Amino acid sequence: MQTNEPQTPYIPINFAEKFELFSERWLPKVIAELNDYQFKLARIEGEFIWHDHPDTDEAFLVIEGNLRIDFRDGCVHLAAGEMFVVPRGVEHEPVAEKEVKLMLIEPRGVTNTGRVGGERTARNDVWI
Ligand code: NI
Repeated sequence: MQTNEPQTPYIPINFAEKFELFSERWLPKVIAELNDYQFKLARIEGEFIWHDHPDTDEAFLVIEGNLRIDFRDGCVHLAAGEMFVVPRGVEHEPVAEKEVKLMLIEPRGVTNTGRVGGERTARNDVWI
């Protein structure tokens, strides 16, 4: 590697700055990729729909707020700084009584409504 060439800028991805760029709820935005996985930020508020992802696990990492994820046989409460991985094929419904800012980590191409689909399905691969 030649050291006299201009260097690619090494710029951190700042969650707070990214969250300033959008206000829509339930429409995840891609901020980075790791091999074939994507890191997505989302603002959510209210109840989502019951769904599952038959082909992949799905990671929820809460950045701000308090998230509940309901399962058919229980639930998990996540505060800021906590995360949970929903196993593939397990039905879940995220619920945020107040706005929650979170990061999703999942393979590229996974839709937010899983195999249920419908009007709550967000467009994929929307980068900010
Ligand atoms: Ni899901």
